[in-house]
Parts: sequence; C-alpha cells; structure tokens
Amino acid sequence: MARKRVCGERDLQEGRLKAFDVDGRQIVLYREGGKIYAFDRWCTHEQGDLAAGSIEEGVVTCPDHGSQFDLENQGVNVLGPDGEEAGSVPDLPVFKVSVVDGDVFVDL
Ligand code: FES
Repeated sequence: MARKRVCGERDLQEGRLKAFDVDGRQIVLYREGGKIYAFDRWCTHEQGDLAAGSIEEGVVTCPDHGSQFDLENQGVNVLGPDGEEAGSVPDLPVFKVSVVDGDVFVDL
C-alpha cells in the first residue's frame, strides 16, 4: 500500500463526485460535511461509472442498475443490481483518505 497525492483540497467541491487517475487507477473522491470519501470508479457489477452515480448518507448508488455500496463500512454491497439482495456483487474497494497541508492523499 502506498500513499498517493490525488489533488488539492480546494479541487473538491462539497457534494460533488469527481474522478481522478492515480497511477493508472481510476478512483472517485467525494466531499461532504468535512469528510472525504475515496473509492474505485467502476462498479463491481458491470463496471458502471460511479462518478456518474449519487451518494446519500455515505452510500453510493450505481447509475446503471442501482447497486449500492456503503462507504462508511468498507464498501460493502448493501443492495444488488436491479434490487437483488445485498452481497450479490463484490464489495467496492474504498481507500483511506488523509489531508496534509491542503493536499488530499489516498492509501492505494
Ligand atoms: S454496473 Fe453498477 S449496478 Fe450494474
């Protein structure tokens, strides 16, 4: 695991999903209420683009078939595609975030 700088804290707008390429890995950052989430960009179902998804109360929803992943609980799948049961697709990789002197880092 390596700590990688992703962007400046000011590059993240409150309540907006933003995709980044970090050493060839596509991740998404999301900032809300002083908290920053970082997770894989591609849904574990059929690679839906989670940067085009939505987040509510720490749960990201895939725009393609509605799978949901709990970012507060290590990306666990809490709703499957098209309403299937929780755990029907793999959990979503999430990453530890740290902010140092205005720069945002993730542990990849
Ligand atoms: S690709 Fe995300 S739910 Fe199907």
